[in-house]
This record gives sequence, structure tokens and C-alpha cells, in this order.
Amino acid sequence: MYLGLDLGTSGLRGILVDEAGIVVSSAEFSIPTSTPKPGWSEQNPSGWIKACKEVVSQIRANEEKAFAKLLGIGLSGHMHGATLLDADGKVLRPCILWNDTRSANEAKILDRTPQMRSISGNIVFPGFTAPKLEWVRSHEPEIFSKIEKVLLPKDFLRFWLTGDYISDMSDSAGTSWLDVNKRQWSEPALALGHMRAEQMPRLVEGSEPGGELKAELRQEWGLAGTVVVAGGAGDNAAAACGIGSVNDGAGFVSLGTSGVILVARDAYAPAPETAVHCFCHAVPDRWIQMGVILSATNSMNWLSRNLGQSVEKLAKMLPDSVTGPSAITFLPYLSGERTPHNDSLIRGAFLGVDVASEPVDLTQSVIEGVSFAMRDCLEALKSTGTAPTSLMAVGGGARSRFWLETLATVLQVPLDVPKGSEFGAAMGAARLAICAANNAEPAEVMTSPDTEDSIEPRSDLVAAYESEYGRYRQFYKALAPLAVR
Ligand code: XUL
Repeated sequence: MYLGLDLGTSGLRGILVDEAGIVVSSAEFSIPTSTPKPGWSEQNPSGWIKACKEVVSQIRANEEKAFAKLLGIGLSGHMHGATLLDADGKVLRPCILWNDTRSANEAKILDRTPQMRSISGNIVFPGFTAPKLEWVRSHEPEIFSKIEKVLLPKDFLRFWLTGDYISDMSDSAGTSWLDVNKRQWSEPALALGHMRAEQMPRLVEGSEPGGELKAELRQEWGLAGTVVVAGGAGDNAAAACGIGSVNDGAGFVSLGTSGVILVARDAYAPAPETAVHCFCHAVPDRWIQMGVILSATNSMNWLSRNLGQSVEKLAKMLPDSVTGPSAITFLPYLSGERTPHNDSLIRGAFLGVDVASEPVDLTQSVIEGVSFAMRDCLEALKSTGTAPTSLMAVGGGARSRFWLETLATVLQVPLDVPKGSEFGAAMGAARLAICAANNAEPAEVMTSPDTEDSIEPRSDLVAAYESEYGRYRQFYKALAPLAVR
């Protein structure tokens, strides 16, 4: 048996799978995020441990005998978070998360240093780890001086599980301190961020062993033999493993809190000028390229909160099938944007709101605005020479047929809907555990699920959405100079 643990922003999800990757049991436990100031986003790492204990105890309660046969654990987690530890391994302050924008200035300064982009293959985005440490250095110097180790969120969970300071390349690629081509820490990038190599965890590939479960936890959880903890992955690389996006050109579009179009590559192909992310994959000799938008289903959650109606209720107001673009345009920049604008200060907008506009019209325009933002990501990927011919569609938003039809038509790419429900980051983490515990060949383990449906672009509406997309692009250009900066 193998345990895949995905430390998501809103909660930890665990799945227990057998050696064929079939799910035997699953559990979830939510994790609170605090926003002490506007733009800040923090979590207390003790909440991750609590969630892990809860998830394991739920799975044990459901499948005690199966759990007792556990051979491996795989970890996935939200990327870029800075967990700062002192010499005794104590947490020095709450973890600053990927969606925290306080270090926008520090990011800008680091990003202007030409080596940062050439070493890390990426823009230094405000959400990445290096600028967070620069912020701590100038705003909390006492804490900064005590930092002995910096761990990414899932690697802090590993530290609790194993006692080891280890990370994997896919997650570490989001720090700005990694040489993403060589898959090793970069001394020059660390020095530019005022960090030292000994403050970094040891690196392993995601599919390799990365520690063993502590004896005391084995005993507590009723486990007799050794349990290997795999290197694991950042959540997007893990999701790619879960859905079988490992070979060059294989990809998916994810409508989660953030929105992602990811394509696996068998060569390092950075293009920071396009704001496309280029990270290591969780398997050796592979990389991923991603367009990332910050508010996908989050835009719908925001609308739902403000209209005082549940997302389900809003979705039910929509027709069964798409009938053409809305008269309202929504710009989904609620927390700024990464691809393609790299603009942390831009904010969202509704344009064309009419006295007769109803919640259903706003709902449709939010779905369209997020789809146009995903099209921007696709165009950015294409400009780097990467053009997926078909994409698997995953994430909460992909449960809406209306959204999928809109997105396929806007992207002009068919979207494959995978069969079943378990192919996300937790499955990717479990698959990495299978690889690490058995020295198995990743390509044989990371297969693609069968597709349940393929959503074709609506040929009768492609031209209408293409023209709307043109208008959408103009709106950013017109509004960017007017944004509060
Ligand atoms: C990727 C990114 C997000 C987080 C949270 O660069 O910031 O996808 O990993 O899920």
C-alpha cells in the first residue's frame, strides 16, 4: 500500500492506493489561512501536521488492515511557501504562502538582476520563495538571523515524518534559488538572495527515496516495516504525474483556485520573457512549462461570496450549452496576474455592466474572463514553441460542462475529460511513492486515465469568441496604466 498526501492551500488530502494505483481509501482535513494584512497570506505549519494526523487516522479507521501494509508515502504541496526553521528545527514564524504579495518590491529588485532569470529560468514572481526571504531580511531581521533551514510546505511535513531536511527538484524550482537546468542549488542565485547553501535541504528527484518514516510514527500508526518517503513534488508536477503528463507535449488545463496550463517537456526550455513558468518535473530528465493565472475558481468563489449565492446555485442558472459571448467582460485579476502580464498590482474589473444585468450574466462573464486568461496562457506557451494539440481538463471548474465548452471554444483546443475522479496531485504523490519504494520506472507508473468525454470547440461560436478575446486583450492594455500602483 502507498499513501499520497497532497498539502493543498485549503486542506490536506490523503489517498491510500494499492500497487496498481487503485484507491482503497481517502480522507481530507481543512487548513485555515490567515490574512493579517491585505495581500498577506500565511499558514501555521502546525496546522499541516494536525491535518496529516487527522487524515492518517481517518484512513486507518476506514482501512486499518490495508494501512498496516504501507510501504511508501508520497508528498505533494502548494509551492513557493517559506517555512523558516531555527537551529533546533523550530518554526520561526508562520509560513508565507504562494499567494502572498507582500514581497512584490523585493521580487522586482531580484528579477532585475540578469542572473536570476538565466539561472532559475523564470521571472522572480512576488509569490516565489527568494523575495519572501528578502522581505524577512529587511522587515524581520531578528528572525532572518536565526534561520538555519528554509523548507517548502510539503518538505516541512516530510521533516515531521522523517526528521530529514530533504526537497525535490520540481518544488525547489519555484524558489528562484535552483539552477533549473542543472537541477541543483545555485550558489550565485542563493548569494543574490542573501542565502547560503547549508540553509537549503538536500535535493532528490521526486520519484526517488527522500527519507524514511520515523520509528515513533511507525509505532503509533501500527506499521511494522520500513516506510519510504518519496522525494515528492510541487502540486502542479504532482498533478502531471497523477494524470500521466510525463512525455514531451503531454499536458493538462487545471481550473483550480489558480488556473494552470501545463505541458511536459523532455528538454529544459526556459522563456521567462513570456511569463511562462519553467520548472523541473518530478521525474528525472523532464521539465514542465506552465502558464499560471492566480484566480480561476477563486474568481467564481469571489462572485459567489459577493452575490450571497452558492457556486452551485450560480452554475445552475446557466443554460445547458453555450450560446455566445456575454455582453459583459470580466478581467480575473483579483490578486494581480502572473502569465502573461507579471503584474502584481493590476486588479479585476467588470466592463459593460448594464442596468438589466443579472447574477447569471455576471456568472457567465466570470467563466469567460477566466477562459480568456487561460487563452493568454496558451498563447504564451505557443510563443515558446510549445503547442499542445489536446489537453486533459481537471480541477473544480472542469466539473461544469458550460465552463468546459466555453474554454474549449476560447482555446480552440479539444478538452479531454478523464474518467473517474482520482487523478490529481494526491494520485501523483502516491505514484511517486510507488516509484520510490520499488525503484519502478516512472513512465510505467504515470499512465493517463481513460477519457470519459472529449469537449470539442463549438465551431459555430469560435469566431464570436475570437473577436471577444481581442477585446479582452485590449482591456488589460487600457486599464493597466490606470491601475493603482
Ligand atoms: C504555481 C503556484 C500554484 C501553487 C498553489 O507556481 O503558485 O499553483 O503551487 O497551488
